[in-house]
Amino acid sequence: MEMEKNVRPESFERITTFEQANAFIEEEVAKVRAQVGDKKVLLALSGGVDSSVVAALLIKAIGKQLVCVHVNHGLMRKNESENVIEIFGKELDANLVYVDATDRFLDLLAGVSDPESKRKIIGKEFIEVFADEARKQEGISFLAQGTIYPDILESIKQAEGKKAVKSHHNVGGLPEDLQFDLVEPIKLLYKDEVRVVGEALGLPHAMVYRQPFPGPGLGVRCLGAITRDRLHALREADAILREEFDHCGLAGKVWQYFVIIPDIKSVGVKDDGRYEGWPAIIRAVNTKDAMTASIEEIPYEILHKITARITSEVEGINRVLYDLTPKPTGTIEWE
Ligand code: XMP
Repeated sequence: MEMEKNVRPESFERITTFEQANAFIEEEVAKVRAQVGDKKVLLALSGGVDSSVVAALLIKAIGKQLVCVHVNHGLMRKNESENVIEIFGKELDANLVYVDATDRFLDLLAGVSDPESKRKIIGKEFIEVFADEARKQEGISFLAQGTIYPDILESIKQAEGKKAVKSHHNVGGLPEDLQFDLVEPIKLLYKDEVRVVGEALGLPHAMVYRQPFPGPGLGVRCLGAITRDRLHALREADAILREEFDHCGLAGKVWQYFVIIPDIKSVGVKDDGRYEGWPAIIRAVNTKDAMTASIEEIPYEILHKITARITSEVEGINRVLYDLTPKPTGTIEWE
């Protein structure tokens, strides 16, 4: 198999079985060992499918020569960083550096309401926090990235002058003093193949089949200027939505589902008194490639249950709304 160039050769068979995945893993393990030798490799481990699969593959290939850095920007979903620590730090015994940078991010974002400015701040700060950690590490020679084939196709499109709708966040653009050689073992794979490889590597099903989560995290779902109290409400409401989707079997059926909280309050009533609160907006979409998306028809019974739980369990939320807008005209995220 010719894997060196950024073009997937016609002869590269689609990976659909464990047998094919294992053959791929064996080949990539040998390649990574040959490329890296006894040097050290750094990886930004977000806990997303792609970086997790790269981490598991590299742990298999080079063990503790891989240094995983997990940056918690304070915009993760409930228990997400804890899961990364549990799986990679404990179960896979990885060389894992955990950085809680919540204050750095939230202080910088205070008062910033423009969506693109928020994305830029989060992306830039992410690189800075990661670079600070990289400088603390001795003898790093390589940077591993969870680049996959659609990323390569997208950058080709952009190089051809087509406009991106939103600036997407990744680890590109490290400072000059940190220009490492790249290790990108899954760069010719499509997402479905990455998942098969992930399961063959022994990663938990829930991690490998995790719904997409944007790099700027809950930052693009806590609309307008982020405040800690609204962010907390968003995280709790989102956890309830995910829990209920798990219970009723929708989790495996719906491509992406999450909560958004706008920066508005309405008048409500609770315990016979006036109760001003934010609305929680539910979005649940199905799509093949995220370019267009349709709305999942959630049974009313489930919507009622989610509404009851969110309004009673989450401080500060007094209404629940359901977004019925397909893409277009709505993008999947609200910012
Ligand atoms: P939109 O909102 O553009 O989203 O319809 C399409 C898909 O991309 C995800 N998304 C991101 N993913 N970094 C990412 O890795 C980002 O900055 C980002 N912004 C949006 C979104 O969740 C949806 O699945």
